[in-house]
Amino acid sequence: MALQNNDVENPLFERIRGYAEKNLSKSRYEHSMRTAQTAAELCRLYGLPDSLGWISGIAHDICKEIPADKMIALAKRDGNVISQLELDKPALLHGRAAAIKVQDEFGISDKNIIDAIANHTLGAVGLCDLGKILFVADKIEPGRPQSTEEYRKNLYSKSLNGITLAVLDENIEYLKSKGKTAAPVSIEFAEQLRNL
Ligand SMILES: [Fe+2]
Ligand SMILES: [Fe+2]
Repeated sequence: MALQNNDVENPLFERIRGYAEKNLSKSRYEHSMRTAQTAAELCRLYGLPDSLGWISGIAHDICKEIPADKMIALAKRDGNVISQLELDKPALLHGRAAAIKVQDEFGISDKNIIDAIANHTLGAVGLCDLGKILFVADKIEPGRPQSTEEYRKNLYSKSLNGITLAVLDENIEYLKSKGKTAAPVSIEFAEQLRNL
């Protein structure tokens, strides 16, 4: 995949890419690359350095395939409570675990990257702009079945809060259609975005 910005020649991206390639299944690695590409596009669209999109995108799922006990142990280190929902479904902690992993393994200290990776699955009230971008990119990267070019073009005409709310609402509706309820944090995040 051609990288489109000098920032990405930054060896950090290449190191994380190599780690992701080695530690993830082929399909998840490819999803991570498409998420990185989409997040970089969104960064350009909404005025952030695209290197932030590349790095958070390639790193967001690097802990998705580790055992549950390791995931919980890593996630705990961020000092936040592990909710009952997370204990019941430790896979939900893969973002928080990856946010610790990028600090340990790659020396990342950028708070926005850490916040974005930690909250990419469910979103969070007060999420930073990069977090909104990564949340959206993960759900609309071109490998997702609904994500046609037209679908993305339509979304790209919105503001950053608008696109985030649209994608979040779509997720909440999808879960409802399957008889499931979205996590409270996602519903609160949607409410916050609706009231901005
Ligand atoms: Fe994820
Ligand atoms: Fe993902």
